[in-house]
This record gives sequence, C-alpha cells and structure tokens, in this order.
Amino acid sequence: MKLLPFSRARKATARPNIRPQRMGFEFRPEAVPRYWCNNDPVLTHFLNALSMSFPDGEQFFVDSVRHFRHTVTDETRQKDISGFIGQEAMHSLEHKGFNDMLAAQGYAELTDKATGVARHLCNEGRKRLSPRAQLAVTAGLEHITAILANTILKQPELLEQMDPSVRILWLWHAIEEIEHKAVAFDLYKDIDPGYRKRVRSFLTGSLGLLFFSSAYTWRLLKQDGMQRHPLKLARGGLRLGRLLVSVLPEYLDYLRPGFHPWDDDNRALIARYKEQVEAAVAPQYRKVAPIAA
Ligand SMILES: [Fe+2]
Ligand SMILES: [Fe+2]
Repeated sequence: MKLLPFSRARKATARPNIRPQRMGFEFRPEAVPRYWCNNDPVLTHFLNALSMSFPDGEQFFVDSVRHFRHTVTDETRQKDISGFIGQEAMHSLEHKGFNDMLAAQGYAELTDKATGVARHLCNEGRKRLSPRAQLAVTAGLEHITAILANTILKQPELLEQMDPSVRILWLWHAIEEIEHKAVAFDLYKDIDPGYRKRVRSFLTGSLGLLFFSSAYTWRLLKQDGMQRHPLKLARGGLRLGRLLVSVLPEYLDYLRPGFHPWDDDNRALIARYKEQVEAAVAPQYRKVAPIAA
C-alpha cells in the first residue's frame, strides 16, 4: 500500500472546521406531530426510515475510516478524521433519541425491525467486504448524505416545512454532513486512486440504501393504513419523487472520473445556519467562553 501525506484528490479549497458537537436534543413524543414534515406522510416516513438506518450505518462509516487512519501522516487531516468520527458518533446518538421518540409514538415494532435490518446489513458488509471496499462504500454513501444535506439547506422552504420540534436535528445533521463530506473520500483516494471500485461500491451502497429506505417508508405508511388513501399517497409520492429527481444530477456527479466532494463549494450554506444550531445546543453541552483577565 502506498502511503501519501496528502491525498491526490485533496483540493485547495479552505475546509470548514470539523468539530463534533453534542446537542442534547430531547424529543417529546406528544410534542412532535405524526407527520412532522409538511403534514406529508410519505416525506415524513422517508426521513423517519433514513433516521432508523443512521445509528448503525454511521458506526459502519466510523469503523471503516478508523481502519485506515494510521495511513495519514498529515496533522490537519488527522484532526479532520477525529472530527469526522466525533460528528458521526454524535449523529448516531441524537438519531437514536429521535428513533426512540418514533417508537414511543407507536412505531416500536418497526423501529426495532428497521434498526435490526440496518445492523444486519452493516455486519454483513463487515464480514463480506474487504476493509478497502468498506471504505469505498462509506465514501459513496457519504456523497449521498452530503447531497441530501445540500438539498435540505439550499431549499429554505423544505426546512420551513419541518415542524420546529425536530427541524433543528435535521439542520444540525445536514451542516455537519457538509463539513466532513470529503474526509472518507480523501482517505479512500489515498489507498485506491482507481475508478472502478469507487463507482461499483457507490452503486452497491446506493442500492442497499434504496432498498432499506423504500421498504421501511412503505412499512411505516402501511402501519398508518395509508394504502387506503391512494390520493394522499400519490401526492406525497410525487413530491418525494420530484425531490429525488432534483438531486439526480448531483448524485450522478460521483461517476465523473475527476470528481471531488469539494468541487461543489457550498460552505456558504453552513455559515447561513451555523448560529441557529449553536443556539440550540443544550446548556450542559455549551462551551463556556474563557473570561478575559
Ligand atoms: Fe452523519
Ligand atoms: Fe457523514
């Protein structure tokens, strides 16, 4: 294995500071509307299903990056990797709280099943794929989380449609996904600058996520008896479909041979919302500014 102090893919763009932040969210089941995203069952359950994949999925990302971090000699990049690991660990933790809220709202059985399936898929990945392939899948899925985050942040109306009781979770997660979007990619490019495995793993990971999210979106809808409301289903399905189609060009960008996550420099989106997120940190997790002498 050839070790490089800097990734060939690492661009000159100044990178955001990747700093983990424990938020300490508390989701009260009675305070969160059942269809918290625009009163739309389809979009809400799509995001709920994604949330159910996060605790185990993000642990998989962390493990695959940790496996290769010893190959990085650059201090700044080591700091970025620590930031990445810390941020994903916080996402797992806060989304677990969100998933517990869903369970308390009456989706306990499905939440258990979905998190069990996500765990099983990750464990199979660990067993069947080489560490290099696991990192390739992580880099690909990180592209998907980064473009979904970009979509959420660049469409203020989408954020507005989320109920304030949960909006900040998605806003915070989206910001951090953008902040660390190149960490796994750069590491992967260091150990395998080739094209085929990167793309193959991206498509495999995409299929897994598509299978998981559509299966559990549908099961959540079915539990609510939505199959008896075809019009509502069709309207929500159309909205979700339009949203996913709008992300397609960014999704396909990953197939470009010279692709790098920071080709799209969207740091301005982070700056726009950072203050809102900082204000939402629970008091016990706020950093106290040092008192000037
Ligand atoms: Fe995350
Ligand atoms: Fe991430």
